[in-house]
Amino acid sequence: MPSLKYSSCFIFFVGMFSVSLATLKVGFYKSTCHSAESIVRKAVDKAVSRNPGIAAALIRMHFHDCFVRGCDASVLLDSTPGRPSEKEHPANKPSLRGFEVIDQAKAEIEAKCPRTVSCADIIAFAARDSAYKVGGIKYVVPSGRRDGRVSLRDEGFGNLPPPFFNAKQLEENFARKGLNLDEMVTLSGAHSIGVSHCSSFSDRLYSFNETHLQDPSLDPEFARQMRKRCPRPGSSHDPTVPLDVLTPHRLDNKYYTVLKNHHGLLTSDQTLLSSRATAKIVRENARHGKAWARKFAAAMIKMGYIEVLTGSKGEIRKNCRFVN
Ligand code: HEM
Ligand SMILES: *[C@@H]1O[C@H](CO)[C@@H](O)[C@H](O)[C@H]1NC(C)=O
Repeated sequence: MPSLKYSSCFIFFVGMFSVSLATLKVGFYKSTCHSAESIVRKAVDKAVSRNPGIAAALIRMHFHDCFVRGCDASVLLDSTPGRPSEKEHPANKPSLRGFEVIDQAKAEIEAKCPRTVSCADIIAFAARDSAYKVGGIKYVVPSGRRDGRVSLRDEGFGNLPPPFFNAKQLEENFARKGLNLDEMVTLSGAHSIGVSHCSSFSDRLYSFNETHLQDPSLDPEFARQMRKRCPRPGSSHDPTVPLDVLTPHRLDNKYYTVLKNHHGLLTSDQTLLSSRATAKIVRENARHGKAWARKFAAAMIKMGYIEVLTGSKGEIRKNCRFVN
């Protein structure tokens, strides 16, 4: 794995964050639950070997957790009567998946070290292990997050970026979470794996606006192929298609080549080539795969710090689906 060479760089990055934030710590469970990280890794290995799409699901889960109420595993809480949780938000339902992998890891960890390891840390570990498994991207995850007690469907609005956002709106959305433009474009590279439901982008294929039948930023031949796979908006049938047509199961920088070919599936993908500042980063990331992988790892670590609960805040959930 070429990425092994990077580990010293990543430790350097982590060092930087711990100086400025000093809230999370690499190896937080070393003395209290030394097998925590290896249990997660084994659960991820097993699930991803069976279904590579699960790697995409777990990386996305960490993003959706961190962008709503911080990385506190609020995304894992089930709804309670009259109180729909984040799982019910349209960005999560029906597309967010992989919950059973977290449940599996949590059950094994609870059996060994009860009430010790947070669900929020398990998501962060699982995202990291997924990036390694399908991208050879290696980094260490500072831990010590605690779990929140609140999850509200409507908090997805205004926090989770919708697929029709343009570059400016994406920049603002990420800036509110402390992530800069380069980190926004670099993290969008996660769309190098996984799938999208047609409904997230089919407006681009049919009746785009009064003057254009299809989105002119989309390659017309590619749009024609997509029309064969995707029904018109509003159809009850909603299939999925790969986000990265070049290397759908490999987390790499080919996503940026996809954008250069005007094969970006979502408006929020292809828009990165339409603004000058983001287009420059797209071209750099397309050219320099190793540099992108390094930046991706650093940005994932940084994302994992968003509004974390530590110390005596929050709790260590017993079951990731329910507050204690
Ligand atoms: C830049 C703003 C972003 C927008 C607007 C966005 C939106 C979306 C949408 C609409 C889908 C498809 C959902 C569906 O219809 O099935 C998706 C999938 C996905 N997103 Fe994002 N996303 C963004 C950033 C990110 C980030 C930062 C990450 C992770 C670091 C990420 C990881 C993923 C992954 C891996 C998938 C595939 C999931 C699967 O196959 O289950 N996305 N995203
Ligand atoms: C339709 O979209 C195109 C491309 O984005 C744009 O140039 C045009 O002004 C739009 N037309 C209307 C009527 O909104």
